[in-house]
Formats: sequence, C-alpha cells, structure tokens
Amino acid sequence: MTTNGAPPLLEVDSLVTRYPVPRGVVGSLARQPQRWVHAVAGVSFRLRRGEMLALVGESGCGKTTTAQSVLRLVDSDAGTIRFDGTDITALGSGDLRGLRRRMQIIYQDPYESLDPRFRVRRTLVEPLEVHGIGSKEERRREAEEALRLTGLAPPELFLDRYPHELSGGQRQRVAIAASLVLHPDLLIADEPVSMLDVSVRAGILGILDDLRRRGLGILMITHDLSTAARYADRIAVMYLGRIVEEGAARDVVANPQHPYTQALLSVVPKRDPRQRQRPEILRGETPNPVDVPRGCRFHPRCPIAIPECRDVDPELLQPSDARAGHLAACIRT
Ligand SMILES: Nc1ncnc2c1ncn2[C@@H]1O[C@H](COP(=O)(O)OP(=O)(O)OP(=O)(O)O)[C@@H](O)[C@H]1O
Ligand SMILES: [Mg+2]
Repeated sequence: MTTNGAPPLLEVDSLVTRYPVPRGVVGSLARQPQRWVHAVAGVSFRLRRGEMLALVGESGCGKTTTAQSVLRLVDSDAGTIRFDGTDITALGSGDLRGLRRRMQIIYQDPYESLDPRFRVRRTLVEPLEVHGIGSKEERRREAEEALRLTGLAPPELFLDRYPHELSGGQRQRVAIAASLVLHPDLLIADEPVSMLDVSVRAGILGILDDLRRRGLGILMITHDLSTAARYADRIAVMYLGRIVEEGAARDVVANPQHPYTQALLSVVPKRDPRQRQRPEILRGETPNPVDVPRGCRFHPRCPIAIPECRDVDPELLQPSDARAGHLAACIRT
C-alpha cells in the first residue's frame, strides 16, 4: 500500500549508535582512551506503510540497538531518523510523547512486557489511560477489538486472566494487542517468536502479516532468514553494525549477492532452534564490535576476500547481476 507522494513511514539515514566500553578504575586513572562498542555503524533504510521489512543477522550485529535508536530509546551519535516525514532525531521527550503512541515495539519475551500483577484487561486499557484516550466504554471496546485482531476471541475469555494463566503464544498475542490499542503506524517486532514453541510461531507471524495488510509498517527483527523470506516484503541483512545486503525478500533469497548472506542461506534451516547449525564459514572468530576490522568488516571471515578487501570499506550498491532495488556492500559483486 504505497501512498503516492507521501513520505515513507520511516526513513533512517546513516545512523550511528555506540556504547562506551567501561574503562574501570585502572583505565580511568591511566587515562586510557575511551573505547566504544560500534553497535550501529552507519545504517540506512526506508519502511513504507503496509510493508514488512525484516532486519536479519546473527547475535550482536546491532539489530536491537537499531530498533531502540529508531524509537529514540537510546541516543544515537549521528544520522537522522524521520518518522512520517518528521525529523525525530533530536526531538525532546515532550515532543516525542505524542509520536511514541504511533511507534510500538514488541519483544522476544512476552513475560518481560506484561506485568504479572495485571489482568489482561488492565494491560490493554492502561496504555489508553496513560495517553488520555477515550471514555471508559471506548477503552473497553478498544481492548476487545485488539484481542480479536490478535486472535484471542471471544475477548471475555481472556480479559480477566493474569499472564501466568496464558500460554506463551497467548501472552505474545496480548503483548501485540497492548500495542494495537494505541493504533500505531509502526510496529517493531524484535524476535517476536524466537522464545515461542514452534507450533505457535506461524500464528503470531500471521498476525503481523495481517497487520501489514491493514497498512501498518512493520520492522521485523529476526535471526532467521527463512522466516524473513516467508513473511517480509524486503530483507536487510546486517553484519557488525551495517546493512550489507538489502532488497526484495525474493531477490535476496533467490539471488544473494553478499558472501555473508550466501553463508546464512547455505545452512538448511532446522525447525528446532537447538538443532540449528551456524554456516561453516561463520564458525570462525565472533566479530567484535569494539575492534571492527578495517576495510570490509566481513573480510576476516569471507571465503572470497581479495587483498583489496582489507582496505576498501564497500558501499551498498546495486550489483550488475541484481534487480533494481537489490543492493550489496561487496566489491566482489
Ligand atoms: N546497553 C548496552 N551497553 C553496552 N553494549 C551494548 C548494550 N546493548 C548492546 N550492546 C552491544 O552492542 C552490540 C549490538 O547489540 P544488539 O543487542 O543491538 O545486537 P542484536 O543484533 O540485537 O543481538 P541479538 O540477536 O543477540 O539480540 C553487541 O556487541 C552488544 O553487546
Ligand atoms: Mg537483539
């Protein structure tokens, strides 16, 4: 659902977010220079309404930090974030308040986002109260509607339950419902199914798919390229704080350009996460975002690296063999 001429829902440009490495007493006394975790090191992407973009990459590559930066939950060092045409990079908390309602996040562990002392009813109504939205009656209707949208029907069956009286999948549905009562435009789902039993994953992903069809922009974060391929419109593959490949989901999966994406795809997906193997070439040293390799950040693990890769930090460009909008950051493509 592209709206002609309208700005993208989310536009992120050259985003940089670092965390300081604690120096400890000795380091401070010795005046050692401050070192940084380069969690997000120049990330750009766009997300439209009605579109699902999957951010894929192995643990520690900066997916969650990207999400938290976009939502202004952590401060970034550089770059810009535009939400629905408004530059929110430097907005203060007062100005952000109204926008926060329109940008919601759901987490991996629904236990974390649900207060164990609250019944479902209170979990769903409270965000509306906090934002001063609707009458009591309207809030009740919103809560019921949100439960229906997440497949928890009839609502009466769930409204009076506590989180511990729900299954893991139901808890995640309630967490999604609690973000939907606010009618957000953007939903960020950070590993929304990785803690859940395999049997309920498709149900949760189906809800996100449905919300996308209703016009929400969805940024889905996942380790799992096969999930991304199945549900997302576009895929952005992240490595050590950068997007190294991006394109239509089918193009990225059918015609991967970056050797890192090729490695991720080389592993036959196992349904049981405990049986998932890491790709052969990725077994090597775990990338360290404090000492990012110079040149191409992937070169120490790359099977096709040439000497030049030690010096050239490749830009995201369209390879000759790729379709329009399919980009990769590799001088060998
Ligand atoms: N609050 C923090 N303080 C310091 N370093 C952090 C903090 N949060 C994350 N990091 C570091 O930043 C890097 C990126 O972390 P991030 O959580 O964004 O990765 P991720 O891709 O979401 O990983 P995962 O798949 O394991 O969730 C990692 O090296 C991590 O250790
Ligand atoms: Mg994460």
